[in-house]
Amino acid sequence: MSRLAVSMLAADALCLGKEARLAVDAGCDYLHMDIMDGVFVPNLSFGPHILAGLSREVDAVYDAHLMLMDPLPYIDVFAGSGADLITVHVEAEHFEQSIARIRHAGLRAGAALKPKTLPTDLRRFLTSLDMILVMTVEPGFGGQTLMEDQIHKIRELRNLGFQGEIEVDGGISMENAERLVAAGANTLVMGTSFFTAEDPRCVANRIRRLDSGSVFAPSQP
Ligand code: DX5
Ligand code: ZN
Repeated sequence: MSRLAVSMLAADALCLGKEARLAVDAGCDYLHMDIMDGVFVPNLSFGPHILAGLSREVDAVYDAHLMLMDPLPYIDVFAGSGADLITVHVEAEHFEQSIARIRHAGLRAGAALKPKTLPTDLRRFLTSLDMILVMTVEPGFGGQTLMEDQIHKIRELRNLGFQGEIEVDGGISMENAERLVAAGANTLVMGTSFFTAEDPRCVANRIRRLDSGSVFAPSQP
């Protein structure tokens, strides 16, 4: 069984609460919140007040993907705004301290890899991570095409011995989902192809039925 994380970046920004509820009712496992600072990536998105508002309104597991040049000063802020899982980029400043801070806040900690970053860059952190997020597009925007040449990183992380959750993010659709799970991914982020689907509930069902038989056995978040 796989997990579906719905990216709120592709939701109708004027109806975020309604869209979040739609995703939860469809059966998604996480609401994926893309947080951008206009420096680490050339775009801006949600701030902590949006996450706080949503998490008050909609009961869900909030997966915060921080695309921030320096996430460290914001870990406690997002933890206090309702994040359950926080992912920071290994290319960002204060990566190691940020992971420690996430754990100190009692949350699950993830590390994200940009397309040009090698899985081996995470080697010495593997045992301190709950999740690794493999980016299959350059971070910053939704609606891009999945970079096929990133898929091998999933297997590589397993070969390095990583037994935690592997999430894949960027350009995921029903056409490529099965291959990602077969490579060893546990959780698929979907923005555009979820919110533009005729039947989002059917998308959620199909994603959640995919089985990788991977070493990671999902437990309750
Ligand atoms: C890109 C974000 C992704 C993105 C995924 O920087 O991290 O989460 O919103 O959206 P789609 O599914 O539209 O590629
Ligand atoms: Zn993301």
